[in-house]
Amino acid sequence: MRVFVAGAAGAIGQQLLPLLVAQGHQVTAATRSPAKAGRLRELGAEPTVVDGLDAIAVGEAVARAEPDAVIHQMTSLAGDADLRHFDRMFAVTNQLRTQGTDHLLAAAAAAGARRFIAQSYTGWPNIRDGGPVKTEDDPLDPNPPAAQRESLAAIEHVERVVPAAAPMQGIVLRYGSFYGPGASDAFVDLVRKRRLPIIGDGAGVWSFLHIHDAATATLAALEHGQPGVYNVVDDEPARVTEWLPFLAQAVGAKPPRRLPVWLGRLAAGEAAVSAMTQIRGSSNARAKRELGWRPAWPSWRQGFSHGLASAEPARGAA
Ligand SMILES: NC(=O)c1ccc[n+]([C@@H]2O[C@H](COP(=O)([O-])OP(=O)(O)OC[C@H]3O[C@@H](n4cnc5c(N)ncnc54)[C@H](OP(=O)(O)O)[C@@H]3O)[C@@H](O)[C@H]2O)c1
Repeated sequence: MRVFVAGAAGAIGQQLLPLLVAQGHQVTAATRSPAKAGRLRELGAEPTVVDGLDAIAVGEAVARAEPDAVIHQMTSLAGDADLRHFDRMFAVTNQLRTQGTDHLLAAAAAAGARRFIAQSYTGWPNIRDGGPVKTEDDPLDPNPPAAQRESLAAIEHVERVVPAAAPMQGIVLRYGSFYGPGASDAFVDLVRKRRLPIIGDGAGVWSFLHIHDAATATLAALEHGQPGVYNVVDDEPARVTEWLPFLAQAVGAKPPRRLPVWLGRLAAGEAAVSAMTQIRGSSNARAKRELGWRPAWPSWRQGFSHGLASAEPARGAA
């Protein structure tokens, strides 16, 4: 297949490109930065330099590539986390999920692509009501914290327009929280510095995903699955009180501090309190069933211990 990857130089792109090339796909890899072109070529792709928010340039780049499939992995999340101003932190990512998706969908359709895969996220967007683990059939949060409303709207946009892109087959992959090489350094640094406290009862449920498993799921979605939305997460959604102390220990840090809810709200805002006390995890049953995908890192336990710096489990360690 001829595959166009937008956002190819990011954490997931760098894992995905070699997998695509190894499968014999011919890959055009998009970046805004001419300085990254050499790296993309090393990974076996043909680089193209384009800004994902420039509709005309995107149209031209995709037309030149004549892709059978287009993959959208553009986000802009490097930099310090600021949960109090969540929508501000996600502002460019939200544009990439709305306008960026629209430009790429239009370009893909015009170029005659058959399949379109877009990145979404699962975790805090789930409804914060009922059981601890949600499927794709559960609603998204009808009343998210005020600071997350625009970000949820951007996610809803991707999840609405991509599966409706017929005759193109549109697949949305809702990745869980990434960890692994190039994907979790800032997060782990917060844990090392004890700057990620458990707030309140720590009953928020998180679903994690090793970055290499995000790439293998994306590869699977090129050829499997009906148009729709798929949770791509590991097998073990877990409460903050389970995974955070485990992660601290795995990276040799002291146990996380604890903060009461009122102080957590004051220090980090409502979205942080929600993430620590209320959010729900996600089930990967549909992705397993319909994409034929299995995570190589089925649990963050093994992943945090051995997978923060390596792509695949050592033989015999799985
Ligand atoms: N599910 C999750 O937990 C999740 C999801 C996404 C990211 N993250 C985390 O966020 C952190 C940063 O992510 P990242 O390294 O993937 O980088 P990133 O800065 O989030 O960007 C990803 C890709 O998007 C591209 N991009 C950004 N703005 C663009 C634009 N206007 N037009 C075209 N492309 C654009 C970048 O391309 P250029 O080459 O042009 O810079 C980059 O290759 C990592 O730690 C990652 O793990 C987590």
